[in-house]
Amino acid sequence: MCGIIGFTGKSPAVPKLLEGLAALEYRGYDSAGAAYFTPDGLRTEKVGGRLSVLASRLSGTTDADITCGIGHTRWATHGTVSDANAHPHGNGRVYGVHNGIIENYRELTLWLAERGYTFTSDTDTERAVLLIDCLYRETGDPVKAMGEAAQRMTGSFAFALLFADRPGKIYAMRRGSPLFAAVSPEGTFAVSDIAAVLRYTRHFTRIGEGETAVLTAEGITFIAEDGSTVEKEYEWAEWDRTAAEKGGFPHFMLKEIWEEPTAVSATLAPLLSDSSFGLTETQIQNIRQIHIAACGTAMHAGLMGKYFMEKLARIPVNVEISSEFRYRDPILHPEDPVILISQSGETADTLAALRLAKERGNFTLAVVNVPGSAIAGEADAVLYTAAGPEIAVASTKAYTVQLAVLIYLAIRFGRIRGTLTQTEADGLLAQLADAHLYIEKALALSEACRHMAEKYRDHKNIFFIGRGRDYALSLEAALKMKEITYIHCEAYAAGEMKHGTISLIEKGTPVFAFATESAVWDKLLSNIQEVRSRGAQVLLFAPASLPVPEDAACDIIRLPDAPEICLPLCAAVPAQLMAYHTAVLLGRDVDKPRNLAKSVTVE
Ligand code: G6P
Repeated sequence: MCGIIGFTGKSPAVPKLLEGLAALEYRGYDSAGAAYFTPDGLRTEKVGGRLSVLASRLSGTTDADITCGIGHTRWATHGTVSDANAHPHGNGRVYGVHNGIIENYRELTLWLAERGYTFTSDTDTERAVLLIDCLYRETGDPVKAMGEAAQRMTGSFAFALLFADRPGKIYAMRRGSPLFAAVSPEGTFAVSDIAAVLRYTRHFTRIGEGETAVLTAEGITFIAEDGSTVEKEYEWAEWDRTAAEKGGFPHFMLKEIWEEPTAVSATLAPLLSDSSFGLTETQIQNIRQIHIAACGTAMHAGLMGKYFMEKLARIPVNVEISSEFRYRDPILHPEDPVILISQSGETADTLAALRLAKERGNFTLAVVNVPGSAIAGEADAVLYTAAGPEIAVASTKAYTVQLAVLIYLAIRFGRIRGTLTQTEADGLLAQLADAHLYIEKALALSEACRHMAEKYRDHKNIFFIGRGRDYALSLEAALKMKEITYIHCEAYAAGEMKHGTISLIEKGTPVFAFATESAVWDKLLSNIQEVRSRGAQVLLFAPASLPVPEDAACDIIRLPDAPEICLPLCAAVPAQLMAYHTAVLLGRDVDKPRNLAKSVTVE
């Protein structure tokens, strides 16, 4: 949540800040702001609105004299969306931008008020920046002031700050929230996500927990909590810069759906050619239960993974929403691995679930898309998905690659546990290796989905039903549809509708049904009849060769015929395309739906 960028160097800062903020908007986009040094002193500009408004206000400030500044794109936590609550916050002596939540901001408000401070916003950030200002006035040392402020603050944060009497310098620190430092020939950057500065540099390092970084045009100094200087090793970001651009597609979401075949084969290729994945064979043989903790779409991938793991490896799997897992005192046997799934690798609740599992001594395996992210850094083992940067807030390609990894693990665990013979495992792995071909065929359904979107777009409620794996898919399909179209959607296990929810079905209510699991097709068909006989309009997603009685559905989208283990990967595509086309037809902001952010670094 919230994107931070700071630049100080030998070339104009404002264009770099705006460019970086545009790439960081996925982290929050309800307000934007910047602070920068001019020859006449520190200036700030901020708006409770989109980045484009800030850009137009800053259009006269691309001056070569402005070579040091910080920028912010906001996802509101404390205080509504307004100019006053937009970042940067400060008082002329110091300005700061923040990502995270300062939990004890009420105490800080009282503490500061006792010392004569007044406030112009409702934000926790303003309290934090004023606290730093107060301590700076006492100590005269920005790093000391920030260190002392960090001790007085509870919660998570990443800050970039400018002190009026320290021109050309950016002070950055973090605890819990992500912040990277990067060096380029033109100067140095502090940034929430390295993808936002790839045009200038690939040389980056993560600012450590509790560390402060002092950026100048010449370089960066890192200072540990105890005041000692830290020598950092820089990493090289491999990501392709063009991967974070739209490349001719009208929206990132559509581009990212189109990238699914490539992403899945790039993710599976190293796994299929290398048999190591963190856990030893003995560890796998001793597992009593697998726990999966994740949020949102990643959690839905976990649910689908459960079906495969239980079917192929006969290992019980407990899938939990990370925010529940972390506060539930889960029962973890010492031999139980905990799998954390996260596209960003920064989701606060999933990171906390990881830490809880580690505290308990359980083996942690992360399935993560972003290299160098916090979850990847802290887990005992990491399996990277190779989706490349995912920019659209609604996750698509990250879901299919997570699913591909989980299916792969289910096959490998099944072989190691002896529930699959070598021939069976080899056969399934060969099918999985071809998954991208089936996904590619599913992309051809885009036009059919657009056509269906036209038919169903004006409904206020849509139900999504399925059985077994198709129930897991329904949950993800419903999430996709609701998050970007704002249509109320509910996913139900098809057999459960009759236990209450079916009372909501009336003439014309849309019910989208998924039928990729042949073993329960007959049962699903009965459930479809139950809703149809109460007036529902049913849109069925079924493989091309599945015989569907003429009166079973009003509309059918025919999925490519694919092996059962590849079908959920294929079926995800039309589910995503239905949401995409519906959102476009309704005129929604597809890549940046209201109230959301892509990277949720607050709990
Ligand atoms: C946010 C995003 C979702 C994502 C979830 C988990 O809510 O909007 O698309 O599934 O966070 O994110 P993660 O990065 O941990 O996969």
